[in-house]
Amino acid sequence: MSEGQDRLILVNAMAQEYVPSKIKSTDPLHEPRLLTQAQRDVFRRRSRDSHRARAAALAGAGAEPLHDINVPRFNPCALMPRRESNGLSSLSMFSGGGGLDLGFDLAGFAHIGSWEIMQDAAVTLRANRPQWTVHGGDEGDVRGVDWKQYRSMVDVLHGGPPCQPFSNAGRQRGASDPRDMWPEFVRAVLGCRPEVFVAENVAALMSASFSGYVNSTIINPLSKEYRIHPVIVQAYEFGVPQIRRRVVFFGFRTTRLERNWVPPRPGFRRPGTIDDGTVQTMGVREALGLPDIGFDDVSPTIRSTLTGPRHTTSILSSVSAQKKFQQLGIWPNGVAETRDRARAFVAKNGDFRLSVPDVALIQGFPEDWRLSGAVYMQLGQIGNAVAPPVGYAVACSAASAFAK
Ligand SMILES: C[S@@+](CC[C@H](N)C(=O)[O-])C[C@H]1O[C@@H](n2cnc3c(N)ncnc32)[C@H](O)[C@@H]1O
Repeated sequence: MSEGQDRLILVNAMAQEYVPSKIKSTDPLHEPRLLTQAQRDVFRRRSRDSHRARAAALAGAGAEPLHDINVPRFNPCALMPRRESNGLSSLSMFSGGGGLDLGFDLAGFAHIGSWEIMQDAAVTLRANRPQWTVHGGDEGDVRGVDWKQYRSMVDVLHGGPPCQPFSNAGRQRGASDPRDMWPEFVRAVLGCRPEVFVAENVAALMSASFSGYVNSTIINPLSKEYRIHPVIVQAYEFGVPQIRRRVVFFGFRTTRLERNWVPPRPGFRRPGTIDDGTVQTMGVREALGLPDIGFDDVSPTIRSTLTGPRHTTSILSSVSAQKKFQQLGIWPNGVAETRDRARAFVAKNGDFRLSVPDVALIQGFPEDWRLSGAVYMQLGQIGNAVAPPVGYAVACSAASAFAK
């Protein structure tokens, strides 16, 4: 069947023809896509062809590799030098693969515990910080936890409740999405009463369509006890080679903490923009150590492979992202597990194929941060994460509120 016929099948769906997937989901948050049998057949055929091509490539029967194995130039650790202990403690909810946790750790906070429902993500946290207390899998489910156990122990409670209910990439069902965990975050704040709370989410949460939700679910219940400041952060303004706009809510229990607080300070600008005295963030080609092709820019937003309706190894978030990756000469689908494998599995159009460590780097994870699980699961943890250098800036900002 031709590409054109496939495309027709994919756009022409009738609700009454939807059939369920035969693949059982392993991820508690996975929301299967509504597809007809014909559409499932197209995806199955594409996936089978791609698997065959990859297996042939890895067996040495594919096209001759076009690229050397890349040696990255971007070192995220330079953006977040480890600070001495600041004498403050932090408790983490919805910890994922640890982007925000790592930022708080490097900023000098003592780690009280992480709560995360996804087993693979919990394994990632334990592998990187064996000394941490990690509540993972069913035991890491925040629902039903009595947060009073942490009262008087926590300086900063932080977390990024799942963004699927609000993300532009999803169905934006907000409070009616069963994955909406904001009420759980609010319950935790009111239960353990930290001095400061930090909550991160997609910037779409600040759009007019969610203002009623934000007021009724977050601001109203918390503002009796906390002074709340939402701040929009953009990853490339913190040196991360990616467009990634997020909102971070800072909440302070006292006016003194609020007065001391210094919001996160961006110090970088996008490549190709006017020099305003800030440092230019690396373009993604430079960051990954790819040859100069006369064009570079920050990466489009990396999509989490878990937030979409299907498990996938593509990090594409939109049609415009696809165009940008084309300009950059980077192939964002079928991300390979390692750089060796990415080199061996030549992309159809000859572009540079990404590997998991490359995607982790574009998200600002240090090269030695080990991710656990299948490729889509590792990519999911990366794409869900707060870019660690942004997490670090957020953590340093939270710490500023405690200055004497
Ligand atoms: C947006 S991600 C957080 C990423 C994290 N802040 C980071 O920087 O890496 C949201 C996380 O919440 C977790 N989660 C969802 N429901 C949960 C629940 N009921 N209990 C604990 N964790 C949950 C998901 O598995 C996911 O890893």
